[in-house]
Amino acid sequence: MNFESLLIHGGIDGDSFTGAVNVPIYQTSTYRQEDIEKNNRYEYSRTGNPTREALEKLITDLENGVGGFAFSSGMAAITAIFSLFKSGDNIIIQNNLYGGTFRVLDKIFKNFNIGYRIVNTIDLQEIKNNIDNTVKAIYIETPTNPLMDITDIQKVAKIARDNNLITIVDNTFMTPYFQRPLTLGADIVLHSATKYLGGHSDLLAGLVVVNDKELKDKIKFIQNATGGVLSPFDSFLLIRGIKTLGVRMDRHNFNAKVVAEFLKSRGEVNKVYYPGFKDHIGYNVQSKQGKGYGGMISFVLNEGYNYKKFLKNLNFITFGESLGGVESLICHPATMTHGAIPYEIRQKAGIVNNLIRLSVGIESVHDIIKDLEMALNESKYTK
Ligand SMILES: Cc1ncc(COP(=O)(O)O)c(C=O)c1O
Repeated sequence: MNFESLLIHGGIDGDSFTGAVNVPIYQTSTYRQEDIEKNNRYEYSRTGNPTREALEKLITDLENGVGGFAFSSGMAAITAIFSLFKSGDNIIIQNNLYGGTFRVLDKIFKNFNIGYRIVNTIDLQEIKNNIDNTVKAIYIETPTNPLMDITDIQKVAKIARDNNLITIVDNTFMTPYFQRPLTLGADIVLHSATKYLGGHSDLLAGLVVVNDKELKDKIKFIQNATGGVLSPFDSFLLIRGIKTLGVRMDRHNFNAKVVAEFLKSRGEVNKVYYPGFKDHIGYNVQSKQGKGYGGMISFVLNEGYNYKKFLKNLNFITFGESLGGVESLICHPATMTHGAIPYEIRQKAGIVNNLIRLSVGIESVHDIIKDLEMALNESKYTK
């Protein structure tokens, strides 16, 4: 089945009991057991729920994995993955990860003596230099949030395999529609499904897919033991969102390219981070490993222009956290998504104060440009 059809018919397609074309919402915490000697297939919804299971089978198909798991948020999914490690282990992480991912490592897992090493993962030699026998995994986002760095998944996964490490990829920005890390050699792929997979800014969810039976059993155990599972209703909403992922991503991709070119042409803008530009340092790698460039753009205003004034003068482009919804969303990484990262690390990584991140929605691209143009015209510093 082609990927566009898999989005609609993958996993468990409808309800075999009634013929309903949608998987029902099994809004139950527990299940009647027939016999004290023998458990039914379902016992308790933390352990298993048919609506969640339909979603888990769907994302497993889409990411071409062996097992999939649905969590109550992206952070719950990431926490479950980091729970694979034990005291004394180190994880190589990229230098401009989502702030919450850094925070959970720095403020929680570090207390359990699970450490991290910050590395520029574009530089394969730097990765190799940081590997020793305490390092157990390499964790990347590609493109990164918010600077759109592109890491070569295949090459990183090869280094990891050669050194007996696992490769973990946060695929939130690309989604399996554009990029499938497990097919490139990664071991674990995860999503903040709150973003493009849900697609409508109406739910929080996290998804994990793994490429082998051993990891599947471990994550299953952690999911049940720690309990951050996705509810049946949100599982239903997410299945619904995923059905339109293909058409939405095509439109996000198209709109983002037009908007990136518009921003690049403006004198108020100093730099545009967009992996679909031919002169972007990661363009060739992204063109090789993905089928698109996504809907995310970051840009820096020139000196003499005020990001606060710019944001205030937008009309319908919504100022707020998050990304990947049908509506355009804009945010200020230094104080919002990446506020949890210490100032020095942020500056070093390029997350400066005049940096703005735009999640280009699927509205008319003409309206998006008009809105940006109006706000840029008003963004000059005045005494
Ligand atoms: C790339 C990325 N990964 C993970 C997360 C965390 O996901 P959630 O907000 O669903 O917990 C986010 C949230 O913004 C994100 O942008």
